[in-house]
Amino acid sequence: MSTLDSILKETRSFAPSDEFRRKATISGMEAYNALCEQADDHYLSFWGDLARELITWKKPFSRVLDDSQAPFFKWFEDGVLNASYNCLDRHLAANANKIAIIFEADDGDVTRITYAELHRRVCQFANGLKSLGVKKGDRVVVYMPMGIEAVVAMQACARIGAIHSVVFGGFSAGAVRDRIQDAGASVVITANEGMRGGKNVPLKPTVDEALALEGAESVKHVVVYQRTNGGANWTDGRDVWWHKLIEGQSETCEPEWMNAEDPLFILYTSGSTGKPKGIQHSTAGYLLGAMNSFRWVFDYKPNDVYWCTADVGWITGHSYVCYGPLANAATQVIFEGVPTYPDAGRFWRMIEQHKVSIFYTAPTAIRSLIKLGADLPKQYDLSSLRVLGTVGEPINPEAWIWYYETVGGGRCPIVDTWWQTETGSAMIAPLPGAVPTKPGSCTLPLPGIIADIVDESGAQVEPGRGGFLVIKKPFPSLVRTIWNDPDRFKKTYFPDEFDGKYYLAGDSAHRDESGYFWIMGRIDDVLNVSGHRLGTMEIESALVANPLVAEAAVVGKPHEVKGEAVVAFVVLKGPRPQGDAAKTVAAELKNWVAHEIGKIAQPDDIRFGENLPKTRSGKIMRRLLRSIAKGEEITQDVSTLENPQILAQLQQPL
Ligand code: WTA
Repeated sequence: MSTLDSILKETRSFAPSDEFRRKATISGMEAYNALCEQADDHYLSFWGDLARELITWKKPFSRVLDDSQAPFFKWFEDGVLNASYNCLDRHLAANANKIAIIFEADDGDVTRITYAELHRRVCQFANGLKSLGVKKGDRVVVYMPMGIEAVVAMQACARIGAIHSVVFGGFSAGAVRDRIQDAGASVVITANEGMRGGKNVPLKPTVDEALALEGAESVKHVVVYQRTNGGANWTDGRDVWWHKLIEGQSETCEPEWMNAEDPLFILYTSGSTGKPKGIQHSTAGYLLGAMNSFRWVFDYKPNDVYWCTADVGWITGHSYVCYGPLANAATQVIFEGVPTYPDAGRFWRMIEQHKVSIFYTAPTAIRSLIKLGADLPKQYDLSSLRVLGTVGEPINPEAWIWYYETVGGGRCPIVDTWWQTETGSAMIAPLPGAVPTKPGSCTLPLPGIIADIVDESGAQVEPGRGGFLVIKKPFPSLVRTIWNDPDRFKKTYFPDEFDGKYYLAGDSAHRDESGYFWIMGRIDDVLNVSGHRLGTMEIESALVANPLVAEAAVVGKPHEVKGEAVVAFVVLKGPRPQGDAAKTVAAELKNWVAHEIGKIAQPDDIRFGENLPKTRSGKIMRRLLRSIAKGEEITQDVSTLENPQILAQLQQPL
């Protein structure tokens, strides 16, 4: 990729108020700069001190970093700890009766549970898992609706040293099977159904379907939480109700003491091939990243009420629902439903009712709520808010300003947090009491994160020029490897182009004159649809798995609410369909993709051609397809195109 010219020209800047700055944990730019300098000058002791201060160790570590097997870095390696102990047990002395979770169900029902109660539930469930034979190192798939039990399931795994692999509840049976198979999971934890937007969402039936597919034979047990009155089909000997499993189980459970580098979890994410990558995180480094960034980025204080709207199926729900807030003994809201049910005021009403002070959501949610009721927030008392956050994709300045003015009342710093499944915790984000914000920029790296933007040769690009976003030094919460695929890990993230020294994030970015980072988008074939990562290859392989399809190419096009939408160009095995026939096949293919991967991957738009635009060497010209998807006139050079006449076909909407 040659350097891209930067296109954004946003000059507004918002400094925290004096009052906010004065009360902030990291107060003012001098404090931020001092931390950065400390990290620069004494990198290892910077991280080592944080790890000693923030984590409760069963046995302390003697060495901070072992980089002898780079890029397979080891942090705090001989230290011994348990993540669930750090999230629960250690709070019991001072915070047993502090509310850990305020759960609001889809129907508005509210349940509050304390740290003592959460600890009890995690221990009981952990004992239940043990009774099924789950032990340290076993993989457990969690396929749950948002709720207290999802957190209990994850924490219980961490407690006994089992490696959880959470699969987002919107993924289909095929995707569930793929993840079970790759990880060799022995147990699946699910619910009979979930509740979203007033509707029952099947979960257990999807698990049943997944387990009937080839490749899922490793699963011995399915634990089913009864969320609704709807029953479930049952396989005796394999399936067990959650409530039966915990019956009579002890309310305490000695944590399994883990080495710092023992895997805490795997989370699958899309890359540039058809096969999702099992991102493997460590116990101590990951926990440190989640815990520390939580208190820095949100300026967390013990009396805050924090709410992150992300599902535990994504990394944000891991780091900023399950681990970061609990490790800090925070009180958090967990919401089962959707922002638009029963109406588009749901989020704002919940902020008012629960007196939320820190609110963290995705740009796509903000954009859709602007569309559905830009004035709605004004009907609610949002004065409890003091910090707002966004994650998952670049936020457009208009949405940023609306969030800042209408939701935050011009009072609350917005922390635009850039990070990834692979980085485990926020990397580039403003510390709200220090770093002035600019709409659309994730601002500056956190202290200890050595981020840069470089060209193909690894040289830093000048301000205003686009390049590859890299992180030049290892940091504790970085992905350790791809599950079962260390070669792919090395090739993808520490490529030879940079002598295997830099972590390549897969995003392009540029920096402005004041050193602020602006994320421009992915450099690989990964789309960002509503803040969710989708590999174009994954969708293409799903499409060509349909018996009607000969060939398919998938690209993204800009979308007002979702950020990006999926567009598929398809060649059928039979003749190119036209008119109503084309519409029928397109509808069938959309359903097919929903069934193969999940609704989130469904194309918005399908176009049929007798062929795809290819160079004479047979390479699909994706750039051309992207132009067609956007409805742009083709100005590119098409002289290398083997079959120019098919462009007209693909330009034709159904
Ligand atoms: C994008 C989500 C711009 C980016 C935590 C990254 C962002 C991918 C931002 C990771 C942001 C995430 N501004 N782009 N604040 N945050 N991204 O793994 O392209 O689901 O590489 O992790 O989302 O997505 P993932």
